Amino acid sequence: MTPLRLLFLGDIVGRPGRRAVQALLPQLRARFQPHVVVANAENAAGGKGITPAVYEELRDLGIDVLTLGNHVYDQKDLLPAVDHLDRLVIPANLPPEAPGQRWVALDVENQTLVILNLLGRLFTGLYDNPFHTLDRLLEKIPEHAHVLVDFHAETTSEKLAFALDADGRVSAVVGTHTHVQTSDARILPRGTAYITDAGMCGGLDGVIGIRREEAIRRFRTGLPQPFTVEDRRPGVEGVFLTLGDPRHALAVEAFRMEVPAS
Ligand SMILES: [Fe+2]
Ligand SMILES: [Fe+2]
Repeated sequence: MTPLRLLFLGDIVGRPGRRAVQALLPQLRARFQPHVVVANAENAAGGKGITPAVYEELRDLGIDVLTLGNHVYDQKDLLPAVDHLDRLVIPANLPPEAPGQRWVALDVENQTLVILNLLGRLFTGLYDNPFHTLDRLLEKIPEHAHVLVDFHAETTSEKLAFALDADGRVSAVVGTHTHVQTSDARILPRGTAYITDAGMCGGLDGVIGIRREEAIRRFRTGLPQPFTVEDRRPGVEGVFLTLGDPRHALAVEAFRMEVPAS
C-alpha cells in the first residue's frame, strides 16, 4: 500500500492568508509531494467564517478539503449553500439541526481517507462532547479507512487528552484554532500522528491573524474595537503527514514558510 502523504494548512486568515497560500502552495507541493491538501478555513473570509465564493477560490488553489471551527456560520451566505459544497466539513459535534457534512471521504491511491472536524468545549462553546461524538462516528467509518481529525480547540489539555483517547483509533489528530504553532508534532504510543496546533496562514506579524495595533488597543483599553486582518509578514504554517496502515501514521512534521519580501 502506498503511504499517503497529506499536507494540512492551519487556519487561513482572510485575504492575506489566501494570498500566502496561493504564493507558497507550489513550493510546498514540490517539497512534500502530497496526495491530498487539507486546510482549516474557518477564518478565510475576512477573518471570520467562509463564503461560497471563498470556498471556490480555495478549491481552485488546489486545496482538496476545507475544515471549519467555531466560526463555521459567521458568514450568512454560507447557510443556504453549505449542503452543496462537497469538500467542506463542518464540526461533527454541532447540534443535529446544523446543516453541512460531518465528514468527507476521499478515494486516494485506492485507499479511503476520511476527514473529520470536531470542536473542543473549554473556552469555546456549548457543543456536544467531542470524545463521545468521535466514538459514534468511528462506528460508522469503515475499518480500512484512514481518519484525519481536525480538533479545533482552545486548550492544550483538552487537545492532548482527546488525541491520547483517539490514539490508535484515528490516523492523525491535528489541532487548530489557537493560530500559534506548537513544537510537539509526534507519533503517539499507538500510532496516531499529533500536533497540538498546526498554526495559521496569514499575516504572521499580527496577533493570531488580527492587525496588531487593533489587538493591542483592545487589550490596553478594554474598549470595543473593530478588527481587521493583519497583512504584514505573510506566511503559511501547517503539518505534513505520512500515513501507513489504516489508523497508523509513519511521520509528522510541522512547517512554516514565509512569502519572500519583494
Ligand atoms: Fe481560527
Ligand atoms: Fe477557531
